[in-house]
Amino acid sequence: MNAENKITIKSVNLDDARLPSVIHGAIGNPSPEKVVEVIESYKNPDHAIIGAFIGDILVGVLGFCKASEVITIHHISVSLHYQRQGIGTLLLEEVKKGSKGCKIMAETDVESVDFYTKSGFTCHGFNGPYGNLRHKCEINL
Ligand SMILES: CC(C)(COP(=O)(O)OP(=O)(O)OC[C@H]1O[C@@H](n2cnc3c(N)ncnc32)[C@H](O)[C@@H]1OP(=O)(O)O)[C@@H](O)C(=O)NCCC(=O)NCCS
Repeated sequence: MNAENKITIKSVNLDDARLPSVIHGAIGNPSPEKVVEVIESYKNPDHAIIGAFIGDILVGVLGFCKASEVITIHHISVSLHYQRQGIGTLLLEEVKKGSKGCKIMAETDVESVDFYTKSGFTCHGFNGPYGNLRHKCEINL
């Protein structure tokens, strides 16, 4: 099944009741307090969260900040049931739109690095703070 054709991409209200359960997947050791803290961080004016909706239901999020010409993706997550249906790609495309001349950067783990390389990012591995393999990914638009 491919969900792309019934998806709307738009800005996410930080009070959206589904936001904690969707962004959860992009947070390491996501205690309820940490999830609240992460959502609060998006009140910063340089930060934004866009979401993928089916009707009114939030099924994917991408949180980023933009400083000068650099966009840093801090969180991207698609609800388990909706993964591998093009939704993460649609969220990335929305960020790329209108950002010509910018660089997009992201840091991810080994499970999601193929998602970024498939979208044209260049990724290289490094040792994360807990001895785990992480990847820095970037693309110039
Ligand atoms: C990573 C994530 C956001 C991708 O979203 P998605 O909607 O599933 O991605 P798409 O359907 O747009 O995938 C596009 C391509 O990326 C690659 N890809 C996506 N997820 C992948 C995975 N888990 N493993 C390997 N390749 C993957 C595939 O090549 C895929 O194309 P294909 O399905 O035609 O083979 C989603 O899997 C997710 O939420 N994962 C858990 C949270 C997470 O790891 N977040 C990133 C770290 S913060």
